[in-house]
Amino acid sequence: TVDRMVSSASPVGILGGSGLYRLLDDAEHVPVHTPFGEPSDPPVVGRLGNRQVVFLPRHGADHRFAPHRVNYRANLWALRSLGVRRVLAPSAVGALRADLPPGTLVVPDQVVDTTWGRASTYYDEVGAVVHVGFADPYCPQGRHVAVSLPHPAMPVVDGGTLVVIQGPRFSTRAESRRNAAAGGTVVGMTGMPEAALARELALCYTSLAVVTDADAGVEASGAVSHQAVLAEFARSVDRLRILLQHLVEALPLEEECICRHALDGLTLPFELP
Ligand code: ADE
Repeated sequence: TVDRMVSSASPVGILGGSGLYRLLDDAEHVPVHTPFGEPSDPPVVGRLGNRQVVFLPRHGADHRFAPHRVNYRANLWALRSLGVRRVLAPSAVGALRADLPPGTLVVPDQVVDTTWGRASTYYDEVGAVVHVGFADPYCPQGRHVAVSLPHPAMPVVDGGTLVVIQGPRFSTRAESRRNAAAGGTVVGMTGMPEAALARELALCYTSLAVVTDADAGVEASGAVSHQAVLAEFARSVDRLRILLQHLVEALPLEEECICRHALDGLTLPFELP
């Protein structure tokens, strides 16, 4: 049967962003409760190509959670508790450079976090002092596979710095120019604390930043609107789905990765799920 062809390796987690609310057919919703509250939706367990996948739309399937209200801790905890060790994180972003047109996939290798007031650590009790390394915030294996796909369904840019703003409003032109001048490549609202929380759970995490617009500070750009972002993401979403399938099929089955050692030698106040 088809089932027998599906790899028995741990499932790949995919956090759907704006405009990616459904991904898998014949899939099963699995309610998960976590010590950190409810995930944005019940995760969906199914198949993408030859891999088992757990899909979770980070804003909820009906987009009810704005970026600053997403329960990032519950989302990643839920994925891990379903056996996920590798996470792919698509999101819509604005370009901070004129040479990155909408429909480009940037696979960042760095992040600058300007968010505030979000629950950004699992280790939030007195006595739970856990400092994970984050110099290289993204999984090297996931990034390598993403930028090496033989026939990518969309143009892929290897590396770049994702600036994460608090939102929910878009940047002013001055903020946008400052983010670009500071070395930012793309700007989004959901990349943090998501990536750091994944590291705190020793998960592999790969950011897949889909450009939907030129941010306000880019020469000759208009003003960014949510409608325009969603419309542009919708134009890219079929290609993103194809790319995600090729990517999950190409990810190593082997679980071993440097990300798995993020907590080595640290004293944790609880066991990971
Ligand atoms: N998401 C999509 N486009 C964006 C932009 N220009 N700024 C912040 N987040 C975005």
